[in-house]
Amino acid sequence: MNRTRRLRKTENIRRLVRENKLTVDDLIYPLFIEEGSNIEVEIDSMPGIKRYSLDTISKELDEVMDLQIPAVLLFGIPSTKDDEGTETWNDQGIVQQAIRFIKKNYPSLYVITDVCFCEYTSHGHCGIIHNKDVDNDATLVNLAKQSISHAKAGADMVAPSGMMDGAIFAMREALDNTGFYDLPIMGYSVKYSSAFYGPFRDAVDSAPSFGDRRTYQMDPANRDEAMREANFDDMEGADILMVKPALSYLDIIRDLKNNFDRPIACYNVSGEYAMIKAASEKNWIDEEKVMMESLLSMKRAGADIIITYFAKDVAKILLKR
Ligand code: PBG
Repeated sequence: MNRTRRLRKTENIRRLVRENKLTVDDLIYPLFIEEGSNIEVEIDSMPGIKRYSLDTISKELDEVMDLQIPAVLLFGIPSTKDDEGTETWNDQGIVQQAIRFIKKNYPSLYVITDVCFCEYTSHGHCGIIHNKDVDNDATLVNLAKQSISHAKAGADMVAPSGMMDGAIFAMREALDNTGFYDLPIMGYSVKYSSAFYGPFRDAVDSAPSFGDRRTYQMDPANRDEAMREANFDDMEGADILMVKPALSYLDIIRDLKNNFDRPIACYNVSGEYAMIKAASEKNWIDEEKVMMESLLSMKRAGADIIITYFAKDVAKILLKR
């Protein structure tokens, strides 16, 4: 008889036949950096995750270095917002300052920037508003300006998250024309209009003041369309394709892995983090085990890279093994 249980008998044989492994090398840790000083505020719905100002962020960065996490993803929280989010391409803006600070003090840490407008616009949408909707092509012009500003500050990679059509092309062209032909772009290629972003929007104060993001982010009902989105980003030259959120979209991660010859990333978003933290605070689940199992499932689905607020927690466990 075929008995699959033979290869499950002991931990050592299970180790030998184990197909997927989570490692510290897979992880990107998001950081929220706020303009101002002396800021170190925990986000209510994301226990353990804080907003820092540049004068308080060093101990967080020291920890990231100690834990050998290869990369951080920067989100800026500016002190002023306007209609267009002009602060995003200010060379003295908070993200630009943060990039310079990190590259000076932690030169080996890989710095990726989120390229978007929602934290910077007074209306909270991801671009310029015309006729109560985000104007795609007008926003592309500003995306190019923002990318160049991040590149000049020393970013190692830029990652547009606004789901504008043609964003990768516009940014690639702008970067190439300014000498940054070597700077990679990670596309938030398949980003759904998801309720799992709730805690993040509290964290960075980016909830839209009217309407929602369904005219630019994808409908969670769609799977075939994800291939279309990924295909455009691939053709426009995105170096890494990302799926976001992760847990409810593991099928999409696998589709991309099977169909594209690019590294695939996924974003384990704020709501996914908050659910595990909340249930474990109530002692309803084993936080460590549920965290490891859910991140492993993303690897199994096909993710090469996982962006996660759990990065430090995971690294602590993995480095102990
Ligand atoms: C947009 C952006 C969002 C997230 C990352 N970049 C929010 C949104 O689209 O509303 C969500 C991240 C998370 O929930 O952890 N700049």
